[in-house]
Formats: sequence, C-alpha cells, structure tokens
Amino acid sequence: MMTPEQNFMRKIEAEEKIEPKDWMPEAYRQNLIRQISQHAHSEVIGMQPEGNWITRAPSLRRKAVLLSKVQDEGGHGLYLYSATETLGVKRADLIAAMQSGEAKYASIFNYPTQTWADIGAIGWLVDGAAIVNQISLQRTSYGPYSRAMIRICKEESFHQRQGYELMIALAHGSPAQKAMAQDALNRFYWPALMMFGPHDAESAHSAKSMTWKIKRETNDDLRQKFIDQTVPQIEFLGLVHPDQDLKWNAERGHYDSGEIDWKEFYNVINGNGHCNRQRVEHHIRAHEEGAWVRDAMTAYNAKQRAKTTE
Ligand code: 3HC
Repeated sequence: MMTPEQNFMRKIEAEEKIEPKDWMPEAYRQNLIRQISQHAHSEVIGMQPEGNWITRAPSLRRKAVLLSKVQDEGGHGLYLYSATETLGVKRADLIAAMQSGEAKYASIFNYPTQTWADIGAIGWLVDGAAIVNQISLQRTSYGPYSRAMIRICKEESFHQRQGYELMIALAHGSPAQKAMAQDALNRFYWPALMMFGPHDAESAHSAKSMTWKIKRETNDDLRQKFIDQTVPQIEFLGLVHPDQDLKWNAERGHYDSGEIDWKEFYNVINGNGHCNRQRVEHHIRAHEEGAWVRDAMTAYNAKQRAKTTE
C-alpha cells in the first residue's frame, strides 16, 4: 500500500494533474501559493505602467488596443487569484502580503514608462518573455494553474503582437521615432531577461519546483529561448542589439549573451527599484477606493443567498 507521498509522486511522474482536493505535501502547497499569488500580483501591478499611457495614446486605435490589453491583464490577475484560493488561502490575505512588501511581483513593472515606445517594448519584450514562461507553465502539475495558463496564453499572443507592431511603426518611421524605439529597447531588454529569475544555480525554488513539475523548464533554459527568439526580431526592426557581447555559438546552437546586472535585479526585487513605492501606494489607494464595490457585492450576494433559502 503506497504512502500519500508515494502516491503523490506517482501522479507527478505519470503526468496526472494534482487537483485541489488531492493530498499534497504542505511544501508543494506553500510553493504554489507563493508562485501563483506573485504571478497574480504581477498581472495586476503590470496594469499601472501601461495604464499611464491609455490617455496619451497617439490614436484612437492605439488607445483601444492598449485599453483592451490592460483589461486583459486585470482579468489574468483575478483568474490567478482564484487559482491560488483553491489552495485554501484568502484573496484579502494575498493582497495584504503584496501591499506590505512581504510578497513579490515581477521586477519589470518597477521600471517607468517614459515614452510611447515603452508601450511597444513592454508588449513585445515583457509579454514576449511572459509567453515563453507561460507556455511552459501550461504543463505545470497543479490542475487549476495549468488550466489558467492555457486560457491566459490565448490572450498573450495578441499582447506581444500589438507591441511588436507598434515597434515596427516606430523603427520604420522617422529618425526621431526610430531613436525612441531604440531607447525603449535599450531600457527594457535587460529587465525583460530578469523576468526569468536568477541563474539556476542561485534559484532558491527551482530544484523543488522541477521535481514537483511546478516548473517544467529552468530559469536559464527559458531565458535562453527568449534571447534566441529576440535576435531576429531586433534585426527586422533595424535596431542595435543592447547586448554588445551577444555571439552565436554554433556548438551550443544558441546565442551566448553578456551578463545580467544581478545587483540591479536584487535591488529592484528587494523594493528599491525606480517605481516600487509608487506602484504599491497606487495599488493601496485604488484598493481602498474600491472597497465599497466589494462591500456592495458581498451585501448583494448575501441578499441573493437569503432569497434562495426563504
Ligand atoms: N521579479 C520579482 N521576483 C523575482 C523575479 C522577478 N523577475 N525572479 C525571481 N524572483 C524572486 C522569486 O519570487 C523568489 O523570491 P520568493 O522566494 O520571495 O518568492 C526569488 O526571486 C528566487 O527566485 P527563484 O528562481 O528561486 O523563484 P521561482 O522558482 O519562483 O522562479 C519565476 C521565479 C520564474 C518568476 C517563477 O516564479 C515563475 O515562473 N512565476 C510565474 C510567472 C510570473 O510570475 N511571471 C511574472 C510576470 S507576469 C506578466 O508578465 C504578465 C504579462 O501579461 C505582462
């Protein structure tokens, strides 16, 4: 007769999804709560940098596209909070942890969006990196997370494509527009590589996450995929690659790249990036201002429930 641990690992090996009511090691549950809630925080905080440009978009078409993208991100966040709640935690506690700085969100969203080209670079590079990561996560062992990723990935390709199309318009536009595109690429390229996390050797969670098939590919493998796919995209734009040390390695069949500034990475994830304080203060303000909506929903649902039990 197998122990619960043995049966759990048998299911993991057999590629059976772990569902909310299944037995799971407490450390597996805690790791999922950490990763999925931080993924949700990232989606919601990520609405701010792009949201800044909705009223400044250069055309009605660009405004409509950006509006729908930002709305999608909010929906992804709510979807991922629901997936986290299946692990027996309260959404209010997750949000409190993010607002207090105890829980993280993706470092990339602590960089300011200074020009319209940044909106293109975010769609192209940030959503591009997110797609590489999230396609892999579609195969994660926890059922609700895997299903959330499958649904979210369907919307991400539109996010990446609208960003790259914006960059094509600028890079193939006037010299001033091309310079703006190059500036945005220079400022967002390296922080986009940081989205994949520290090197595998420095990753606190990767070993366990790979054993439990929470992660299906490592930080460095996913980062390499993104680096390789971005080279021809930069070439097509006619822009200069921000990594001066980038070199094709025929033996590896991949590009060797320069080193990421890990001091900057840890500085940002430990709360000292350009916009960390601003992003969290904005979230706290919006959350407080929206409390009446949540209270009204709760009161309405209670009334509906009371009606059905009369
Ligand atoms: N930003 C902030 N924190 C980061 C980070 C980043 N880019 N990369 C790593 N970290 C943190 C980890 O959370 C962990 O800290 P913790 O123990 O307090 O949680 C620490 O650095 C060590 O990193 P590990 O590699 O050990 O952590 P993970 O195994 O969790 O790997 C990850 C990090 C690759 C981000 C993984 O958590 C993951 O795949 N998460 C799901 C994807 C995600 O969250 N993406 C965020 C962007 S969402 C987005 O871009 C929306 C899009 O639509 C725009």
